[in-house]
Amino acid sequence: MGGYGDVKLLREDGLRLDGRKVDEMREVEIEAGILPAADGSAWVKHGLNVAVCAVYGPMEAHPRKIQRQDRAVIDVRYNMAPFSTSDRIRPGYNRRSREISKVTAEALESVVLVERFPRSKIRVEIEILAAEAGTRCVGITAAAVALADAGIPMRDLIVGVASGKIEDTVVLDLDKAEDNYGQADLPMGILPTTGEIAFLQMDGDLSFEEYNTCMEYNLKAAREIHVLMIDALKRRYLEKNGGEA
Ligand code: CDP
Repeated sequence: MGGYGDVKLLREDGLRLDGRKVDEMREVEIEAGILPAADGSAWVKHGLNVAVCAVYGPMEAHPRKIQRQDRAVIDVRYNMAPFSTSDRIRPGYNRRSREISKVTAEALESVVLVERFPRSKIRVEIEILAAEAGTRCVGITAAAVALADAGIPMRDLIVGVASGKIEDTVVLDLDKAEDNYGQADLPMGILPTTGEIAFLQMDGDLSFEEYNTCMEYNLKAAREIHVLMIDALKRRYLEKNGGEA
């Protein structure tokens, strides 16, 4: 959120610099089960962002001090590959990736049926191969597909989506320029079946009305991405088992 007033992000015709309408998200593609060595995996392309997620487990939690007697812990590692970005600070494990790993783990713990696996651990590795704003959301979507691919029971899938504000206008799914120079960003993790929110962060300021519009856009995008997640999992199921999904 740079908030530079002199950078134009909306065109004269009301469209955004990349030609999208205010309530239009970037194109999304999803594949499940792309990594043979993992128990579950997913690949998500969201605009120019590319994320890969590998899931391992459930396995016995080690060291024992991280074990929970009544449930599994989800150990998330979000990382930006060195070649994922061209500017700003050096990627790699740092304060930002630790924060994103932590909030992602908390979001996933509220959808995975963790109580079914006491004293165990589920490892979720999220690798961002290309970063163009919104990578924490893309990571959450990829993790949900990879967890489902690993056969880990969940209450629902969880979809990462964001809306925000540029030039006093609420827009869905900020790209890099909009994220850098816009006024606000509201990433969320949404359970698409119930509309519950399992993850929410906010950068910048939004009025109550603007927040409600962001919420409406995020719910719409979550439902659209949910369809693609289910399609990817069905394709994967057919590939593994043959026959009808
Ligand atoms: O990626 P996300 O929007 O979830 O997180 P952010 O911290 O708001 O970062 C926004 C964008 O800035 C990222 O998606 C990257 O494109 C870029 N960035 C970067 O180039 N180098 C970093 N070390 C961190 C972020």
